[in-house]
Amino acid sequence: MSLDISTLRQRLQQALGEEFTVGALLGEGGFAAVFRVRERRQHRDVAVKVVDLGLTPSPSLAVRFVREARTVARLEHPHIVPIYKVGGYQNEVLYIVMRCVDGASLRQLLEKKKRLSVRKAATIARQVADALGYAHHYGVVHRDVKPDNILLDRGGHVLVTDFGIAKAAQEASVSQLTTEGMVVGTPQYMSPEQATGDKLDARSDIYSLGILLYQMLAGEPPFDGESAQSILMKQATADPPPIHDHRGDVPAPLTAALERMLAKDPAERYQTAEEASRALVEAVPAAAGETVPVRASLAAVVIRSLVGLALLAGGALVGVTLLGKPPRLSVAAPIPDSVLQSLRRRRVLATGDAAQYVFAPAGVEDTTFLIVAHRRVAVVTPHHVRSYPREAVRVGFGADLRAGLRFRLVLGLPQGGRDTVFRSLSFRDVYTMVPRVEKLLNADSARP
Ligand SMILES: Nc1ncnc2c1ncn2[C@@H]1O[C@H](COP(=O)(O)OP(=O)(O)O)[C@@H](O)[C@H]1O
Ligand SMILES: [Mg+2]
Repeated sequence: MSLDISTLRQRLQQALGEEFTVGALLGEGGFAAVFRVRERRQHRDVAVKVVDLGLTPSPSLAVRFVREARTVARLEHPHIVPIYKVGGYQNEVLYIVMRCVDGASLRQLLEKKKRLSVRKAATIARQVADALGYAHHYGVVHRDVKPDNILLDRGGHVLVTDFGIAKAAQEASVSQLTTEGMVVGTPQYMSPEQATGDKLDARSDIYSLGILLYQMLAGEPPFDGESAQSILMKQATADPPPIHDHRGDVPAPLTAALERMLAKDPAERYQTAEEASRALVEAVPAAAGETVPVRASLAAVVIRSLVGLALLAGGALVGVTLLGKPPRLSVAAPIPDSVLQSLRRRRVLATGDAAQYVFAPAGVEDTTFLIVAHRRVAVVTPHHVRSYPREAVRVGFGADLRAGLRFRLVLGLPQGGRDTVFRSLSFRDVYTMVPRVEKLLNADSARP
């Protein structure tokens, strides 16, 4: 379907009113167009996705579109493009106002680079998996996981968009699918159950994520062909060419994870996106990191709340500023209840125990927190929590020469065990953090 862009722009301007100025076309998809729009009062640019039912008449679509979009608008996750508003005008012009992501889409990135490093591919896939896991939890299946719907902000942080929104359009166009043999969706990324028109669930997204990962690694999706039908046939029946035919540096566990995502039978795939995310991190530990130092998981929530609280408290933030720049974050209690509760839910803290300090160096890789509570010391990563009785641990550090001189912060555990908390610290990091943690632990052991 090709949209008449100038008409659509005018209609959108009319629908949004004077407060907004419709600007450049950001892109066009199967059934909608996306414009950059200036929001005057807020002095910000937003992206507005618009469907004109005057041009695509289907009364049921209007209702569905708005309903779907409102469900999706409730999703709040660091890897999901936030929706600010869903609206309609005379039941014809429907629009979704969302954050304008100023960066390339994964499609644009892949057009330029063709294939990505193993680490980058796994990191992007992991972030997408986290977004999917969250949405699935709220009963939203994406259904259209493809490089166009994966946006990267300027720092390379992944934001998934179009959750479930294609569904309304797809369902409204089902008659077209059967009568004209036209396929709605992008065949290269469709799961076998989508390809055959079967009922689908969250596991369909996991398959599409597998296709995405395959493409990031191989430079092309596993199944292509002359016609949509031939691609769909392959999705349903053909084996993907082994990733090793494309490149030799994919670690075996990642190949295994990829194959599992691409299983034809949903029952043989990872059953949840969280599982897929964990498998990616196990295969490529660096996939837990972000390309920018903004955390996606619980960790981010913890840090953000802590920073917020600290700023509010005006001075509760104990920045370790000994040697200039404020690279590390070390935040004093009190820690907000919401944060404490989430730590308790994850069994980091026992009821009645209070977190005193949270350490989180702002390195590129660091998605880890060291939490010192009255009774426990916990290492919190997006996927694991390891916690120890406070009096039983000692803090130490080690040097690593492989990637320049970097330092590790290590906890010495009872019976000679060790837990490496942070891996890639600068000299300043260890110099400031180790004595602090040590002092804290000693202070504790001095208590009755
Ligand atoms: N929130 C956004 N911020 C910036 N650009 C966006 C945003 N959403 C969509 N786009 C751009 O608009 C294009 C069209 O989007 P869409 O209508 O969803 O179609 P498709 O996802 O099939 O490309 C996308 O490919 C993307 O480049
Ligand atoms: Mg899209």
